[in-house]
Amino acid sequence: MVLEKQRAVNINRFELPAQLDLSEDFVKGYMRLSHLYRGAMMEVSTKLDILDDEFSLTYDHNPIHHMECRLKSAESTVNKLRRKGFEVSTQNIMEHIQDVAGVRVICNYTDDIYRLSRVLEKHKDLTLLRKTDYIEHPKPNGYRSLHLVVEVPVIISDVILRLPVEIQLRTIAMDMWASLEHELRYKSNKQVSEEAAAALLDCAERLSAIDAKMQEISRTVRSAD
Ligand code: GTP
Ligand code: MG
Repeated sequence: MVLEKQRAVNINRFELPAQLDLSEDFVKGYMRLSHLYRGAMMEVSTKLDILDDEFSLTYDHNPIHHMECRLKSAESTVNKLRRKGFEVSTQNIMEHIQDVAGVRVICNYTDDIYRLSRVLEKHKDLTLLRKTDYIEHPKPNGYRSLHLVVEVPVIISDVILRLPVEIQLRTIAMDMWASLEHELRYKSNKQVSEEAAAALLDCAERLSAIDAKMQEISRTVRSAD
């Protein structure tokens, strides 16, 4: 099941906040580009959907619990370019921003994450640009997930454009933690206290222990089949 967080926008009804001070040409170019990124994102989620079905047929097990797709908002894309010191242009977006298109894959077990990642890494349509394993090496705050940036070919008319898609693979437990931590850290405009940060880290470690236990139970049950 793929949950798409935003629908395609109509090019004629598209508006960007005036305070971003963008040229009309950029806005038009950006609209076309975001349509292509949407294509890249759908290519990746379709590939993952097919893989999920194939695993189900072969091993009688679905590695994917669900997926979420999102396109980075125009505002955060422009702000990120400016933060990195680049001029605002569609060319610079393509060259310097790798997370315009994002697919979050929520897996059932940790083994599923690595199984899917192995297949994606050697998929002949995809080129791996970056891999960050925050499961093997969690962030100091406790964040866990496997991040891949892959380049996907998108065909427009007679041209093949290769665009990056950020894939975040995580278990249900890792997703629960990341969602709540994000809510606490970024949405409640307040600085998280040292106590709260330590409690969050403790939760991340406990959830990781639960993931390991669930994985062990799953292996035991499956080997008894
Ligand atoms: P930026 O995308 O510019 O932040 O740099 P990066 O690509 O090096 O970032 P990174 O790979 O660390 O993170 C990319 C995405 O992972 C973020 O946009 C979040 O969705 C997620 N993420 C990373 N770290 C955290 C974290 O500590 N907490 C939560 N909730 N999500 C995180
Ligand atoms: Mg990012």
